Amino acid sequence: MTIWYGGDYNPEQWPREVWDEDVRLMNRGGITLATVGVFSWARLEPRPGEYDFGWLDEVLDLLHANGIRVDLASATASPPPWLAVRHPETLPVTEDGVRLSVGSRQQYCPSSPVYRERARELVTRLVERYAQHPALELWHVNNEYGCHVSRCYCDVSAAAFREWLAAKYGSIDELNRAWGTAFWSQRYDSFEEVMPPRTAPTFRNPTQLLDFDRFSSDELLACYRAEVEVIRARSDVRITTNFMGFFKPVDYWKWAQEVDVVSDDTYPDPADPMSPAYAAMVRDLMRSLGGGAPWLLMEQAPSAVNWRAQNAAKSPGQMRAWSYQSIARGADGVLFFQWRQSAAGSEKFHSGLVPHAGTDTRVWREVEQLGAELGALSERTGDDAIAGTRVPSSVAIALDWDSWWAVEQPASPTTVSYVEVLFAWHRALSSLGLAVDFVRAQDDLSGYRVVVAPAHFVITDAQAANLASFAERGGTLVVGFSSGITDEHLHIRLGGYLGEPLRAALGVWIEEFAPPAAPDLRATGGQAPPPVPLTGELLGDDAFGVVWSEAVRVEDAEILARFGGGALEEWPAVTRRTVGGGRGWYVATLPEHGALRRLVERVVTDAGVDVLPVAASGANVECVRRGRSLFVINHGPDEARIDVDGMDILTGRAAMGLVLPPQGVAIVGS
Ligand code: GAL
Ligand code: ZN
Repeated sequence: MTIWYGGDYNPEQWPREVWDEDVRLMNRGGITLATVGVFSWARLEPRPGEYDFGWLDEVLDLLHANGIRVDLASATASPPPWLAVRHPETLPVTEDGVRLSVGSRQQYCPSSPVYRERARELVTRLVERYAQHPALELWHVNNEYGCHVSRCYCDVSAAAFREWLAAKYGSIDELNRAWGTAFWSQRYDSFEEVMPPRTAPTFRNPTQLLDFDRFSSDELLACYRAEVEVIRARSDVRITTNFMGFFKPVDYWKWAQEVDVVSDDTYPDPADPMSPAYAAMVRDLMRSLGGGAPWLLMEQAPSAVNWRAQNAAKSPGQMRAWSYQSIARGADGVLFFQWRQSAAGSEKFHSGLVPHAGTDTRVWREVEQLGAELGALSERTGDDAIAGTRVPSSVAIALDWDSWWAVEQPASPTTVSYVEVLFAWHRALSSLGLAVDFVRAQDDLSGYRVVVAPAHFVITDAQAANLASFAERGGTLVVGFSSGITDEHLHIRLGGYLGEPLRAALGVWIEEFAPPAAPDLRATGGQAPPPVPLTGELLGDDAFGVVWSEAVRVEDAEILARFGGGALEEWPAVTRRTVGGGRGWYVATLPEHGALRRLVERVVTDAGVDVLPVAASGANVECVRRGRSLFVINHGPDEARIDVDGMDILTGRAAMGLVLPPQGVAIVGS
């Protein structure tokens, strides 16, 4: 089975003669899939209703003649300037009332019926023309929905928001109740009075903000659906749209139901030593969004990007090592932005597979090497196959966009970054060699031994009941601080935080938030509060909690660690209740990495989860099992020795006591 290899191909930026060289080099580099047409609307429809497909016919035919499959974009990611000139109302408006202009990209209001109609018109023609093209492998709808414009506050969007609210609440009384508008004289007399949360004198209504987040994600999804409907009516080819990892504005749980294959764009910073660990979490999310099915790494950079304050180049071997990380965690393809580095435009300093300097370059040599390796791996079949196989996981983290949106709202108790908290848990678990799935708290959790719910700030009755029953039925549930605070309308669960039935399952409730004393966070620009010492054998010596602490009231649980200083000195920090066959842990702070790692090791071994022995090889060595193979990747600056037996599939050599150089990779067969 093929492990796809390729990237965004933008031949419209180059004269015709370059295209021949492109396909020749693609063959040399082992390229099997090209994403074509992502930003070519203005070229395909130079004037309203006048289409020019001749050049695209030629591109697709050329790729096909050279054995390269095509991921054909719907080309709607950036409308041509003429749309804005003729329909200025299609341009999006910021919360401050600024109308964005043309001359960049993605300048459309997601709710605009004019944009949606013109997009559907273009897609109809594309699909009619290319549905039967022999090169077609995949449809690529739009591009990175919401990347630059995820929320629009214009009058068209305001009307769409009102409709969305009317459909959700039925009556204005229901909206008033849900939004708690008795507060600050916010009562609405009719839906006509309701606005998007535009810039206002001070704190805006929290439930209005949350509903606008939900609405905005849904509006982008409606744009996606409008195109998909056109494609499905005329083509059986699979459809994707590229996600962006942990992208706050868009609830990917909803989207994932509607793509045939999950695909993702990831640009970890080569200068940040935490990048491999963070990227591991992103890859685990992508696998989880597709229910464990193989996904595609749709975009990554061959070397540097052009949009950070400092754009570090990837070090030798790093592109390869990070590519294998994706494959280890379930990807069946590694693609890049972009094929040929642009000569003009605002991305000309973004690396490409074919660099400005050409093929006598480190980047190109690495491209060829990886292409050859993936070609060989693609030949493997049956029990030896890599592509198409699954990544086993018995541990999951609950991820909830409502909680993410809510916990980071202004006027909230914490200044916690939701994803940072998830990352801390993920990093601790994956350092044990565990692939970690992401789940929703309302999902069927019976396939897992351990489920961690960190900062699940918003919790529905159904979610709380499902988590509690997971523990009651023999699972190990770990709930982290700032969970179970509100219902789905952001109304507090009164009578002690956590609320029933989590309180019963965990045997604790939360009396008060008591964040570690800190200088005024707003004044210091969010400077982190000081760590609080934690005591208890479980967490080891010198354990500290960071970010948060809470006054935990124990009803029926063991106390395994306590706060060792600060306002909560001697109060419980980590508790555990044995319920039926299961366990319910509560963790009232964020133990720093070493302590958290000890904690999760105890949690998972108690739960009977096997920890990979090779995971002890050091902090920079990543170990992941996929199918029958063990992927070992050395992200560190030094040579690493790993105690593992078997055959390294990449070198064909026995791997008795593996030695990996920096950025080295081995795939050890069983
Ligand atoms: C992505 C985008 C690409 C390109 C790339 C540069 O967000 O989809 O078109 O701009 O970033 O890193
Ligand atoms: Zn709008």
